[in-house]
Amino acid sequence: MNDSQSIVTIHSKNFSKLSVVASLLCLAITSHALPCEKKVDDIKHVLLISVDGLHQKDVDSFSKSNPDSTIAKLLHTGVYFNNASTSKPSDSFPGLMAQVTGGIPATTGVWYDNAWDGSLFPAGSNCKGTPGIPTTWDESLDFNSTAVFTSINDSLLPERLVDGECVKVQPYEFLRVNTIFEVAKKYGLVTAWTDKLPAYSIIRGPSGTGVDDLFVPEISGVNKTNVTAVEGYDELHIKAILNWINSLKADGSPFSVPAIFGGNFQSVSVAQKSTAGGYLDANGTPSAVLKGALEYVDDALGQFVDALDKKGLLDCTIIIISAKHGQSPIDRTKLKEIPKATLSAQVTVPINQLTVDDVALFYLKNHNDSGVAAKQLLANATLLGITTLYEGQSLIDEFHCNPCEDSRCPDIAIKTNVGIIYSTAPKIAEHGGFNEDDLHVPIIVSHPTFECKVDSTFVETRSIAPFILSVLGMDPNELEAVCKDQTPNLPLFE
Ligand SMILES: *[C@@H]1O[C@H](CO)[C@@H](O)[C@H](O)[C@H]1NC(C)=O
Ligand SMILES: *[C@@H]1O[C@H](CO)[C@@H](O)[C@H](O)[C@H]1NC(C)=O
Ligand SMILES: *[C@@H]1O[C@H](CO)[C@@H](O)[C@H](O)[C@H]1NC(C)=O
Ligand SMILES: *[C@@H]1O[C@H](CO)[C@@H](O)[C@H](O)[C@H]1NC(C)=O
Ligand SMILES: *[C@@H]1O[C@H](CO)[C@@H](O)[C@H](O)[C@H]1NC(C)=O
Ligand SMILES: *[C@@H]1O[C@H](CO)[C@@H](O)[C@H](O)[C@H]1NC(C)=O
Ligand SMILES: *[C@@H]1O[C@H](CO)[C@@H](O)[C@H](O)[C@H]1NC(C)=O
Repeated sequence: MNDSQSIVTIHSKNFSKLSVVASLLCLAITSHALPCEKKVDDIKHVLLISVDGLHQKDVDSFSKSNPDSTIAKLLHTGVYFNNASTSKPSDSFPGLMAQVTGGIPATTGVWYDNAWDGSLFPAGSNCKGTPGIPTTWDESLDFNSTAVFTSINDSLLPERLVDGECVKVQPYEFLRVNTIFEVAKKYGLVTAWTDKLPAYSIIRGPSGTGVDDLFVPEISGVNKTNVTAVEGYDELHIKAILNWINSLKADGSPFSVPAIFGGNFQSVSVAQKSTAGGYLDANGTPSAVLKGALEYVDDALGQFVDALDKKGLLDCTIIIISAKHGQSPIDRTKLKEIPKATLSAQVTVPINQLTVDDVALFYLKNHNDSGVAAKQLLANATLLGITTLYEGQSLIDEFHCNPCEDSRCPDIAIKTNVGIIYSTAPKIAEHGGFNEDDLHVPIIVSHPTFECKVDSTFVETRSIAPFILSVLGMDPNELEAVCKDQTPNLPLFE
């Protein structure tokens, strides 16, 4: 930071004092449709980008070998948190919820796209029968999951009892806490987001009204293992974000430049998993396929910066680059696929749901069986690739939830040895788990007035949520999860 810039302190209830450089403070929330004046004392927009799969290591190596890239330029005028962790589990759903609510899975209630809720009823059941269903917040809810442009068929939604009445549960009603978008709406700000399928309407927040323009084309509408096809899909997100910068909705109709907007890229994640892609060595040298995907994303980031510049918005926009998750293993020699059935066969007590990737979450029929199941799994820990098994008190301590009290808390969670994936699909990496390559993602916070700074303080991606509210002049304590989980702000101005 520039030493001559004065430091002021914002006071906020129950929250650690935030020291903020005065010149960046947006004191007045006014019109957000107009280009900002040529000065840095009012941040009016935050562009948040998740490059799904992006490791901290990828940023280091890409910026080093591409010094003229947009990522390198954003770092040059950015604060780079190079010791950041995403959520545990590191699935896309809890990973994104961390960034937009400030919460851990126990607080958001969002553990995985596909998991379990012991209190919900099946679609079309009219809430009859025994509660408890697998939750599938994915393409299975679409009218047509092989079409890019589709939407959720409400008849396929789970049901729940509210004051004795049986109602359908939209994805956003599944989320237990409010989002940055809902807080922004409270202040009259404009919001927009793009992500990979219709169930990402979860980002609207429990009110359902947080995001003014939500653009969620279905990625299953393209070949999800073909990097070129997925880049074609990402192009839709790029166009939407460029539209927002140009005061248009994703569909091209008139709009205001949103105060909080952004979205994700999928091509890097697909290139990391693809048998034709991945990394060439344990240091994270990208294969040609992955290198191509990184260049593709970098080019898109360049288009955003150029568009913001052309509109005169660069000075009043903060750009944040992070990732919902990494991808594990980077070192392909560590890869070992184990069939999911081998894992479930080890347990003789009844299982309601087993969620796997490079992680395993067991939801048991009887919570009191978790000790028995844990013993059975640990009896074969080496063969099953188990590093750590969380159950009972260790699960409560690690994840801050209790399966006997919370209908979405797993009974058992498994941290795998690096490289274990419980699948036989042709892929060389996955995420969801608790290893370094899953968790260690970058957070880059960039603005033209920032001087290049690398901060190795340990931070979590959930700190992005309070940060976004505070730079736009809102109180981070408006976020329920920030209060509950005591989520600190990014230590940007300390
Ligand atoms: C679903 O979408 C695909 C791809 O657009 C299309 O070919 C197919 O006809 C659609 N199915 C139905 C039932 O509309
Ligand atoms: C929506 O889902 C219901 C329940 O499965 C099904 O009967 C109906 O045909 C679906 N609607 C369309 C238009 O596909
Ligand atoms: C999808 O793409 C992959 C990789 O490019 C290819 O091997 C596969 O055949 C494609 N699948 C279909 C159904 O086209
Ligand atoms: C991958 O997708 C691209 C773009 O849709 C297509 O041209 C190419 O044939 C596909 N490759 C495979 C192997 O399916
Ligand atoms: C747990 O409870 C179930 C149902 O009451 C019972 O059948 C089972 O034996 C119990 N298991 C243990 C380990 O106590
Ligand atoms: C470990 O798993 C293998 C494969 O499922 C099985 O054959 C073996 O009996 C198991 N060993 C123990 C001690 O449970
Ligand atoms: C990253 O954070 C961890 C946990 O606080 C700490 O042990 C480690 O030293 C940090 N790494 C660096 C490079 O500072």
